[in-house]
Amino acid sequence: MTTIDEATTAETDYGTPRVTSDESATVTIDGREVTVPVGTSVMRAAAEAGISIPKLCATDSLAAFGSCRLCLVEVEGGKGTPASCTTPCSDGMVVDTRTDQVLDLRRNVMELYLSDHPEDCDGCARGTCEMQRLARETGVAEVRYGLGGANHLDEATDHSNPYFDYDPAACIVCSRCVRACSETQGTFALTVEGRGFDSRVTTGGPDFLHSECVSCGACVQACPTDALTERSVIQLGMPTRSVLTTCAYCGVGCSFKAEVQGEGDGTRVVRMMPWKDGGANEGHSCVKGRFAYGYAGHEDRQLEPMVRDSIDDEWRVVSWEEAISRVAQGFRGIQERHGVGAIGGISSSRCTNEEVYVVQRMVRAAFGNNNVDTCARVCHSPTGYGLNHAFGTSAGTQDFRSVEHADVILVIGANPTDAHPVFASRMKKRLRQGAKVVVADPRRIDLVRSPHVEAAHHLPVRPGTNVAFVNAMCHVVVTEGLMDDDFVRTRTEGAEGFLEFIRQPEHSPEATEDVTGIPAADLRAAARLYAAGPNSAIYYGLGVTEHSQGSTMVMGMANLAMITGNLGREGVGVNPLRGQNNVQGSCDMGSFPHELPGYRHVSRPEVREIYESLWGVTIQPEPGLRIPNMFDSAIGGSFRGLYVQGEDIAQSDPNTQHVEAALRAMELVVVQDLFLNETARFAHVFLPGTSFLEKDGTFTNAERRLNRVRPVMPSRVGKDEWEVVCDIATAMGYPMSYGSSAEIMDEIAATTPTFAGVSFDRLDAEGSMQWPVTDAAPHGTPTMHVGQFVRGLGQLTPTVYVPTTERANRRFPLVLTTGRILSQYNVGAQTRRTPNDTWHPEDVLEIHPSDAELRGISTGDVVELASRVGTTTLTAEVSERMPAGVVYTTFHHPVTGANVVTTENSDWATNCPEYKVTAVQVTVATEAARAAAGESASVPAGAAVRYR
Ligand code: SF4
Ligand code: SF4
Ligand code: SF4
Ligand code: FES
Repeated sequence: MTTIDEATTAETDYGTPRVTSDESATVTIDGREVTVPVGTSVMRAAAEAGISIPKLCATDSLAAFGSCRLCLVEVEGGKGTPASCTTPCSDGMVVDTRTDQVLDLRRNVMELYLSDHPEDCDGCARGTCEMQRLARETGVAEVRYGLGGANHLDEATDHSNPYFDYDPAACIVCSRCVRACSETQGTFALTVEGRGFDSRVTTGGPDFLHSECVSCGACVQACPTDALTERSVIQLGMPTRSVLTTCAYCGVGCSFKAEVQGEGDGTRVVRMMPWKDGGANEGHSCVKGRFAYGYAGHEDRQLEPMVRDSIDDEWRVVSWEEAISRVAQGFRGIQERHGVGAIGGISSSRCTNEEVYVVQRMVRAAFGNNNVDTCARVCHSPTGYGLNHAFGTSAGTQDFRSVEHADVILVIGANPTDAHPVFASRMKKRLRQGAKVVVADPRRIDLVRSPHVEAAHHLPVRPGTNVAFVNAMCHVVVTEGLMDDDFVRTRTEGAEGFLEFIRQPEHSPEATEDVTGIPAADLRAAARLYAAGPNSAIYYGLGVTEHSQGSTMVMGMANLAMITGNLGREGVGVNPLRGQNNVQGSCDMGSFPHELPGYRHVSRPEVREIYESLWGVTIQPEPGLRIPNMFDSAIGGSFRGLYVQGEDIAQSDPNTQHVEAALRAMELVVVQDLFLNETARFAHVFLPGTSFLEKDGTFTNAERRLNRVRPVMPSRVGKDEWEVVCDIATAMGYPMSYGSSAEIMDEIAATTPTFAGVSFDRLDAEGSMQWPVTDAAPHGTPTMHVGQFVRGLGQLTPTVYVPTTERANRRFPLVLTTGRILSQYNVGAQTRRTPNDTWHPEDVLEIHPSDAELRGISTGDVVELASRVGTTTLTAEVSERMPAGVVYTTFHHPVTGANVVTTENSDWATNCPEYKVTAVQVTVATEAARAAAGESASVPAGAAVRYR
């Protein structure tokens, strides 16, 4: 593993991928002996021995290809000069990499390449082109054939992609880009067309932008000549140092080397390079993590604290002291007038564990109540509830690598290729190796059919009927004798009641077909496939949790996995794909009104005692208010002050009108964020936040992996966010301080058993660790529940299907469901401030052709989307990805106001909003609606029209 000290911009490229084998071979290369796992290439063994063999078509992220003929070697007793990248080591092998014959051959090959390569090669300062170095290494001073012959030097550069250029003149057709796109990314956007001299790399479209390319950048990273080069490198030149850190976007939690120029305040990010040793991503990335970091330096960043007396006043820039004093006095004043419980705080899943931990401490110790909640409330809170109930821990069961052992993959309510792209690439690789995928989703997402991927079954489950669907799956397993009786007998409890429940004919696929919309035969076949495994894994997303029965569905999936014995080993499990980078962490850190860090209920005196003695306060034994309770209490008048860290509740929470009314009703709303977001329209104090490039701490991804987030540059606002929170608490009369974020993690580790072995030093040494990290598991726990569940026996639970009250009716005959798209991220605060807008400049409404025809709607029409709570306007896209009766949109652009139409329905156990089911009507927008939206008919997408 690359250690942190070695995190410079250059990494060793071993030429071919690492091989694992129980057997080893010892070879002698240029007189040096090296022992490697059997199957390792001569090229890699040489690199491990510190011997560099010239190469062009080989790189250690891709399978050996053997096309460039530059890496030739001689093997004692062997014939000819084999390519070292495709020659495996065998025990006792003796290799010479520098015989006269080999050097001569390499020179000739290199000369041929250079004869069709830009003349300025030696003076080229662009990127990391390997040609210059190889020309020097092979001793090619000049090209004997000259440069006047047939060549490709006049071909035009493709500048269409906003992040990288393709210069075909510099291309040597090594196909590393083509293989990166297929092997690593799994998109198959590139091919080599033509033969011999005429062979060229092509996108299959007019250019990169208008092709299947998803801008993951894997090809750019793989290109040895800089024919593919980051635009930022062309503009800024090469980086001079790097800092290892973690992506700020989704819950995959990819590790990156932020490659920069300059120091201190003058630091400039040149590019983000996925870290080869990153546990979550192993050197891969998506368009957001690799390219969409520019928002951190966007001119919209608000860098100074601001206050105002009323939300109708102008903002006034003030000092940190004045802003913090205003917050402290305001909150204390509210408590004096309205009681201790009249204020609260919301933490952010975009912030580090350390920042979140400090917010919940501020609320519990300085505010003196448990009114702390997190934005996980609106996404994965049912995961915490359901998995804790079934298994005893509120987290996914596997690491991402586990998917490489899965035989059947059941994807429910998730769209990994858009929302968790790097994990999707890993999953698709497994599918190309022969694993089967079953997709349960109303939409025909990419995993249903895309290049080299074809779902065994697509089960178009109707929004709101997940529990009926999973019960039918369990029914088939139980009634067809497919159950793992031994696992159920030895590892679970509650079997008797559950089995009696699930055997009932009302749960059969035939009985539920009309409810779920899934043909009974398809469901039976999918259930048989899943039960047969032998390793079957469930991956799910917000299409499971954001329902009125979200928690029930999580328990239902746990039932399915338990009755088939698919837990406690690699390749199986129940795995939430988390939306935000630190959803797992923000929940782990106790930012729930009923739980202290480590998911320990506030009613437990022995847990309160730990914090009470450490913090010197009394902690309330009763749970505090959840986010929706805070809103209701604000409208009712009893909740008057709110601190919001990095969450845009006015845009991301359901029923926007209700949220806005609650915010308007409060005396003091404090927003800490990068930008003046929608919520800040209702704020009285704005505290500037730090971007991930400025933070020092940890994020915990969907596999419970703690990754370090390291400051690439100093805080642009002069303070760390945890420091601001400590300042507020102190100004409120509760002195709170830490010397560093490492110290905060030390406190977390000292008080939370699952983090007992975590520290920044350990993380720096190990790269990353998956909790629990304990004496029993000092390096972390990739797979949970091996041998026994955290709660002892797994809990089987009868999961009664209760239809949502939100149903299509005559007035609102369609069902709206929502999701994300690859290039944008959640409410778009970050990605809309980057060139990612190129791919998705507005939210569109996808509608099935028959629904569209019935309403006279064509692609490009502006339509009104109305629910019982509100109306908005969008551009329609007629799409066969949708089933009839269901429409779909994203929520990345505030102007669309998708949450204007979502209702206040929520999960029975956790209040997670039912974003995925809203009864709506869609009509061609009238002139009046457009006028009310403040737009002309010629403007394609409109602002929200709000009424009740
Ligand atoms: S663009 Fe780069 S990686 Fe692709 S074939 Fe050309 S030289 Fe090789
Ligand atoms: S950027 Fe990614 S998807 Fe696009 S061509 Fe390159 S490897 Fe393929
Ligand atoms: S997959 Fe998620 S964590 Fe990884 S680079 Fe993309 S957005 Fe970042
Ligand atoms: S590197 Fe071995 S043939 Fe190209």
